[in-house]
Amino acid sequence: MIAPPSSVFEVGCGAGAYLWELYRSGCEIGGLDASATLLAYARQVMPCGRFTHGEASALESRERHDFVISNGVFLYFPSLDYARQVLEVMVRTARRGIMVLDVPDEAKREEALAIRRRWIGEAEYEARYEGLQHLHFSRTGSRRCSPTAAPPACASRTRGSTATPTPNTAQRLRLSD
Ligand SMILES: C[S@@+](CC[C@H](N)C(=O)[O-])C[C@H]1O[C@@H](n2cnc3c(N)ncnc32)[C@H](O)[C@@H]1O
Repeated sequence: MIAPPSSVFEVGCGAGAYLWELYRSGCEIGGLDASATLLAYARQVMPCGRFTHGEASALESRERHDFVISNGVFLYFPSLDYARQVLEVMVRTARRGIMVLDVPDEAKREEALAIRRRWIGEAEYEARYEGLQHLHFSRTGSRRCSPTAAPPACASRTRGSTATPTPNTAQRLRLSD
């Protein structure tokens, strides 16, 4: 479980929807995203957070955070090699654990595609997603976070090491072509 006063950094944090509850609970929050527009929202709602504009591949392995996470991002990476590179830096950067969520399962690729096509209709699907690909992975792993209460003021936010360690999901995530 990730709990305050842990530090949590998200790769591909966007506007911070996933980080918000952790921020409110008192975790020290940081994130990186390729969209400056989405980061502006994140900075607005989480003024104590430390956000960086850039590519996931530019994640600095010399930085350290208790937990390094990524939700709904790996599927957008340009290649499996890119995903592997990011995952390796996440592992080096995390003191306690990493978490990668929303990773499309290679074994369910066709089934998921069929459901999406049925859901919005063949023609609409082609119109919306023509030429767009996203990555699939052979296995996925996840852990849930448990946020609580209202956010403390910036000044009272401190680093700490009392969070319960989470298993390192990088060891369970297998990338496949
Ligand atoms: C579906 S959103 C998820 C946002 C956030 N993780 C959340 O759970 O609310 C995907 C995010 O990944 C970011 N993203 C996609 N590819 C990226 C890359 N190569 N480097 C950095 N950010 C990327 C997008 O800008 C977008 O904000």
